[in-house]
Amino acid sequence: KDNSNFSKHLLDWFYNNKREMPWRETKDPYKIWLSEVMLQQTQVNTVRPYYLKFIERFPNIETLAHAEIDEVSKYWEGLGYYSRIRNFHSAVREVRDTYNGIVPSDPEKFLKLKGVGPYTQGAVMSIAFNHKVPAVDGNVYRVFSRLDNDDFDISKPAARRHFEQKVMRVMPDAAGDFNEALMELGATVCTPKAPLCIFCPVMSHCESYMEGNVTERPVKLKK
Ligand code: ADE
Repeated sequence: KDNSNFSKHLLDWFYNNKREMPWRETKDPYKIWLSEVMLQQTQVNTVRPYYLKFIERFPNIETLAHAEIDEVSKYWEGLGYYSRIRNFHSAVREVRDTYNGIVPSDPEKFLKLKGVGPYTQGAVMSIAFNHKVPAVDGNVYRVFSRLDNDDFDISKPAARRHFEQKVMRVMPDAAGDFNEALMELGATVCTPKAPLCIFCPVMSHCESYMEGNVTERPVKLKK
């Protein structure tokens, strides 16, 4: 898997099979950031209509920063985890006040904004600006545990660093597409239960597939 064939196979598959999503038609960092915040604990199909209505009412940093949280929250009703929208709203005001309304393209600066963790940082910096930053979530833990037949316990805090390093070893120039391709693979093919290995574009790179223990990966000891 360490040669560039792996990323090529995955990217080719992604370009031919990616699902349509409204936030995939833009490079606007504000919209991509919003989509990533919504997608953090919510499925794509649930997010879609919320995203469209939100963008219609708050099309940019300016309009969202200007709105009161009570109105903004109404556009979140049903999505749950309201701290997400409160943090996002604060962060967007921070962008208005500190960065002249321009979402920082510097990963270090972006990470300091309210509610932005390493996953959101990687996703937004790579998708909007094509910075080579990993975006590691549960999908990526699962995909790389299987590819490398890796029994690293994903409930350990060190798991993030461990899997970020794996991603960086195969990161191609198309960083944003690659991160999205990993999410897409995890969501549609390399699923937790009953993965669809026969449709997998990187089956020939997958050590767990060869071992026949795909359903035993990832290892998660603590619940
Ligand atoms: N889940 C989190 N981010 C996503 C994205 N950009 N596309 C699809 N699913 C996602």
